Amino acid sequence: MNAREMAEAFRRRFPIADEPIVVRAPGRVNLIGEHTDYNDGYVLPMAIDAQIMLAGSLRNDQEVHLYSLDFQSGDRFSLQDLERSTAATWTNYIRGVCAKFLEFTPLKGMNIVLTGNVPQGAGLSSSAALEVGSALLIRSLNGLDTGAVELIKLAQRAENEFVGVNCGIMDQFISMLGKQGHVLFLDCRSLDYDLVPAPFAVNQASVVVIDSGVKRGLVSSEYNLRRSQCEKAVEELKKDLPHIRALRDVSVMNLDLVEKLPLDLRKRARHVITENQRVLDAVKFLAAGKLQEFGQLMNQSHTSLRDDYEVSCKELDLLVELAQSVPGTYGSRMTGAGFGGCTVSLVADHSIDQLKAVVLEHYPHQTGLQPRIYVFNASEGAQLLA
Ligand code: GLA
Repeated sequence: MNAREMAEAFRRRFPIADEPIVVRAPGRVNLIGEHTDYNDGYVLPMAIDAQIMLAGSLRNDQEVHLYSLDFQSGDRFSLQDLERSTAATWTNYIRGVCAKFLEFTPLKGMNIVLTGNVPQGAGLSSSAALEVGSALLIRSLNGLDTGAVELIKLAQRAENEFVGVNCGIMDQFISMLGKQGHVLFLDCRSLDYDLVPAPFAVNQASVVVIDSGVKRGLVSSEYNLRRSQCEKAVEELKKDLPHIRALRDVSVMNLDLVEKLPLDLRKRARHVITENQRVLDAVKFLAAGKLQEFGQLMNQSHTSLRDDYEVSCKELDLLVELAQSVPGTYGSRMTGAGFGGCTVSLVADHSIDQLKAVVLEHYPHQTGLQPRIYVFNASEGAQLLA
């Protein structure tokens, strides 16, 4: 859907409302740097060409009226009495963003129509896209001057404090600040970032994302457990390294100290420390157009997530093995929080059909699940379209 069609859909739903503003915000795929963001570490995500679009205009009261074109259903709530919805859970991302704005500024009521094509529940950050898109829409409609990084933090707080998911900052950051043709190298402590040109097209390679079809059941409890294990590892390591604040401060040179930790903490810390180093190396390889070396790091990242961080599952492992078996695959790994969701592979364009054939031949047969295969381009971050 384009901006004009979106505005038309809005007018059909809200015929007497003011002309709408239209915004879009993309989903993301993380190329490398998994479970590092909440350890103050490094990540390398890319905004994908799948997005959430919202059209909205102001009302004269304190009500927000929402309509989802995809669910063909609506909802309404008052800005004066913001509560979590159990009936229409998709509205909680927008409710949460409103709640976070209201902590520092009054808002006017709004009519909003939305649609999206980011696969949901697949680990491609449809929720971050919805939060970032809503934040941008609300800022524009209310004439606020909140900066981009403030909006990102606000969207993350909506997810942490209102929706109740304790995520890091990566997803909201890339949805807001991604750039077409680029990947984003982010330092999750300083929030300094660099947009690195993605040398995929010039090397006739593509980013292939495969949805395992496994719904990420354990994700929030296991995610929180990993976070607390990382914090415990930091407390233990402080005995030898008193200056550290997060696992980000421990370098691969200190891995011998990590070996002294209890087994579970040792494995978690080893993943995070080596993964941070892999991101730093990956950025250099990417900038030099060295896709082979970049792909090797993706493969190593998967092994580390599977064996040390223990957030993969047999279906993701199978997809990664199938992708790695195809000549022309530079590298493959699970992406996102894990326990289901997607893999990401960097694949020579001439091998994509073969990869699809291999996956479709073996994956459904061995798992009883139907995979979904996407080829994504690096897209622009959130934008005001009209
Ligand atoms: C989820 C979270 C992110 C990040 C990843 C794992 O996507 O929302 O903040 O922690 O998991 O890398």
